[in-house]
Amino acid sequence: MCGIIGYVGNGKASEIIYNGLRTLEYRGYDSVGVVVDTPSGIDLRKGKGMVEEVGDSLDFTSMGGSIGIGHTRWATHGVPCKENAHPHTDCTGKIAIVHNGVIENYQELRDELAGKGHKFSSETDSEIIAHLVEEGKKSGKETFQAFLSSLKMLKGSYAAALLVEGEKKLYVARKNSPLVVGLGKGENLAASDMTAMLRHTRDFVPLGEMEAAVLEPRGVAFYSMDGNELRKEPMHVDWSTEMAEKGGFPHFMLKEIHDQKHFLYESLAADVSRAHPLISNAKKIHITACGTSYHASLMFKCLSQKFLGKDCDATIASEYPFISNPDSNTLVIAISQSGETADTMRALEYARGKGAKILSLTNVAGSSITRISDEVVLLNSGPEVSVAATKTFTSQLAVLYRLVFPGKDLSAIPALLGKSLESEIEIKRISESLREKRDIFFLGRGLSVPIAMEGALKLKEISYLHAEAYPGGELKHGPLSLIEPGVPVIALAPNDETVYKMLGNIKEVRARGGFVVSFTNSREIAKESDIAVEIPGSDPLLAPFAMIAPLQLLAYYASVSKGINPDRPRNLAKSVTVE
Ligand code: F6R
Repeated sequence: MCGIIGYVGNGKASEIIYNGLRTLEYRGYDSVGVVVDTPSGIDLRKGKGMVEEVGDSLDFTSMGGSIGIGHTRWATHGVPCKENAHPHTDCTGKIAIVHNGVIENYQELRDELAGKGHKFSSETDSEIIAHLVEEGKKSGKETFQAFLSSLKMLKGSYAAALLVEGEKKLYVARKNSPLVVGLGKGENLAASDMTAMLRHTRDFVPLGEMEAAVLEPRGVAFYSMDGNELRKEPMHVDWSTEMAEKGGFPHFMLKEIHDQKHFLYESLAADVSRAHPLISNAKKIHITACGTSYHASLMFKCLSQKFLGKDCDATIASEYPFISNPDSNTLVIAISQSGETADTMRALEYARGKGAKILSLTNVAGSSITRISDEVVLLNSGPEVSVAATKTFTSQLAVLYRLVFPGKDLSAIPALLGKSLESEIEIKRISESLREKRDIFFLGRGLSVPIAMEGALKLKEISYLHAEAYPGGELKHGPLSLIEPGVPVIALAPNDETVYKMLGNIKEVRARGGFVVSFTNSREIAKESDIAVEIPGSDPLLAPFAMIAPLQLLAYYASVSKGINPDRPRNLAKSVTVE
């Protein structure tokens, strides 16, 4: 995970890097650091804490120089502390690196380097890169050659940027971790994602696997890891800087929940023309993803089995290689908002190795997952900054609905979701009453099951309340023993074919003293509930779009009422690039 950014040009590097790190903070936020090369030498500042906390206390913007690199960390090797924060330097302090990824053979390399007299100042795997480059340079190699040969020794994953005192060049490379080069005018950048560079350019070259680049103010040269120069075509994105800003909302998450009613139009207009034939011709469909995207996969499984009559397995990506057996007759659909999730990538590599065709749904053009896919559908949700996925989830659902119901008029979806946001004040009140609870259960049936699972994930992820979701009928097979007076149960009960079964489940809960908050457009359900939040619309097929935003708001306000920053939940990061 971790966010990295590098800048070379004529601007004030520290300020540009600091701004970029604020945007990248969603990737990790336990420690942060910046290094710039100034006329009087390297200036490196780093510390434990979130970007602004550290940046303001160490006065990042007072650092001079027009070339530098920065890093915001999500710890893998070594606790979050100043020493383990990036950038790391070699023994001379003149070679500085930032790294995102995991170096599997670092201990072996570290021991070797220590044997040659290198002294380490951190417990990280990353620091060895600086020392390997130092060794390479000592043996007479040019910096770039030393960088490439160092990286070739690494097993594992990296997106790395290197700066050497006195050289007005940045060296970057990637393997299994994202890195994008931004092409500016008289300045060039590289970062873990495009949003961190939007203030400077909309023209990007995502580095391919095992590719490197050398950035100077006037241009960028791209190379394979063997040092052969590559021609790369830049891509232009039309994301604006405002899209990656809060726009008057207290948190990105709240903005992104509200943005759904706009972006859904874009997602419904996504180009699915090449995906349709893949689905119709597929003998077997496997769909794979993680977390929230997995819940979208479950929705596709329900819809495709019921309405397309297609057998479809939905499998959590990290499990896929162990329990699935794709072949050349299988279409594997991957869903990933970031397009960089390592677990999903590994599942796709496995499927590719077995000859399967790959269709992916992602929000990030040029991301790793797009490159391993035969066809890609872009979600068109705009950048999502909050760690908790919200608008990308509903975009995924919208695209999946397009794939399953090519002839259906889905244009009511954005307004339906917009109308559901009118319950915001009521939801805020309900969420405050959940604050002191220990366990919360979410129930649904049919199409509401993936939505219940997503509601529970959102709540636990950002409010740290324990939440579980079950199909209503499963309650009596075990979880009912956990229902006692006052236990909150969120019942998703739209007026569809499941409504009477859900009514029965609600009665079972209330008979044991459980406190039922229903999301419903059925009068009977409302009458049986302690609190009933009315959901708009009457088309049962679209009910997921009427329920999801209130559930996202429930999680958001529960988080805020507990004094948590919903955009930065503990221990998590967006874009999970480690397995
Ligand atoms: C939850 C959340 C995660 C992601 C998961 C997959 O709010 O955001 O569960 O859904 O890490 O990420 P992507 O979709 O980028 O592959």
